[in-house]
Amino acid sequence: MGSVAAEKPHAVCVPYPAQGHMNPVLKLAKVLHAQGFYITFVLTEFNYRRLVRSQGPEAVRGLADFRFASIPDGLPYSDEDATQNVPDLCESTMKNCLGPFLGLLAKLNEETSSGAPPVSCIVSDGVMSFTLDAARELGIPEILFWTCSACGFLAYLHYQQLVDRGLVPFKDEAEFNNGFLDTEVDWIPGLRKGIRLKDLPTFARVMDLNDKMFNFVLREVGRVSMASALVLNTIDALEVPALTALQKILPSVNTIGPLSALVRSTIPSDSPLAPISTSLWKEDSTCLNWLDGKEPQSVVYVNFGSITIMSNEHLVEFAWGLANSGYAFLWVIRPDLVKGESAVLPPEFLEEIKERGMMISWCAQEELLFHPAVGVFLTHSGWNSTLESLTAGVPMICWPFFAEQQTNCLYSCTDWGVGMEIDNNVKRVEVEGLIREMMAGEKGRAMRVKAAEWKESAAKAISPLGSSLVNLEKVIREPSDMLS
Ligand code: UDX
Repeated sequence: MGSVAAEKPHAVCVPYPAQGHMNPVLKLAKVLHAQGFYITFVLTEFNYRRLVRSQGPEAVRGLADFRFASIPDGLPYSDEDATQNVPDLCESTMKNCLGPFLGLLAKLNEETSSGAPPVSCIVSDGVMSFTLDAARELGIPEILFWTCSACGFLAYLHYQQLVDRGLVPFKDEAEFNNGFLDTEVDWIPGLRKGIRLKDLPTFARVMDLNDKMFNFVLREVGRVSMASALVLNTIDALEVPALTALQKILPSVNTIGPLSALVRSTIPSDSPLAPISTSLWKEDSTCLNWLDGKEPQSVVYVNFGSITIMSNEHLVEFAWGLANSGYAFLWVIRPDLVKGESAVLPPEFLEEIKERGMMISWCAQEELLFHPAVGVFLTHSGWNSTLESLTAGVPMICWPFFAEQQTNCLYSCTDWGVGMEIDNNVKRVEVEGLIREMMAGEKGRAMRVKAAEWKESAAKAISPLGSSLVNLEKVIREPSDMLS
């Protein structure tokens, strides 16, 4: 009998249902596919429909060995707010997704007759830990992927310590906003000394120990040791103190970033895999032509990610800060960026900037950050945006919103030497001043030089003997040799 072709290993990949999680997990799935894996990519039914709405039915067509599937997210309502109501969505996936996920795995294993190999491993978002129970039930390994920075993850890992030391719950928001972690007792090894409490991921800002998100994070980090391996989308050289501290607690943690660059270097641009995207909004492509007409490093790129919301008052402060800076700018204003209403920009602002400002609702950010006309990224410090900016060598002006964005902002503005922070209660004069300093001042010049160095580090990490590629090989080949 001829030798049976070795079956491909079959990885089932499960992101948390939000843009900043779907994107990095899709990138990891593409990299695993390039390593010979058959992929099933699991969306929630809500986001499956959103992908079709934003990109058309081909968005979920996949390939013969790269398939999309979906499970319900268990929310009693399904509208645009589903992704924005983070606590409800986290609680619902935690409580309601295991059953449907086990059903999907059973169906995939019944379908082997259709050429799909049996499921051999699960690659799951760290905050979708119900998948660990499924992996245990099927007796297969699981790679857990926390999509935040190492410094952010380290802070999450010490949330219980904040409780044990009596710091949490806080008396009021002021105690959180004005407090420090600088005493030896409270300090978290691996995080920079003198860190302010408000630099910690914002889910620690609780006045009630029953807080839904705080307890969700406590539970999810508490399950990490059930995984066969833990991966982070970051660069060894960027987060040495945090990674050194992490590896003492979790020896199985491996850095495999930047995934955006790893995908670009392993998937040819003409590959049928390349156009597969999890973008939940339709990307405006005219902005790249608009940038083509601009001088190098002359444009301020403004984007607050997929979840940040703000008041219209703050939106107008950003608008006049951009206008009064005198620089050209490209501003992505998501349809749901302004809390509870549509963005209303003053007519006199629109008149003044019509020659040098462009406003769109969504873009191909990774590609845009590499455009030579982009001089600075005004960002909310989401981890994917931060890492993509460093990978492209673009310095940042940071206005963090929630999660571990405050921690990413702290490091961007201190250890990493590439960022300046805008006060939470944003004022136009501050926005104008920081843009002028970043674009033409001495501090901005130094940050641009530093950002170019991180771009080099990113390229080195994903080179053939680079830390990220070596780690990825290790994760795939251990512990149960997932490629077998
Ligand atoms: C959230 C949290 O911010 C982040 O800190 C956490 O680690 C993941 O979940 P989000 O707020 O959406 O993510 O920000 P970010 O992490 O920056 O992810 C946004 C992603 O969408 C990036 O990959 C970015 O390239 C992409 N994007 C954003 C676009 O492609 N186009 C846009 O117009 C805006």
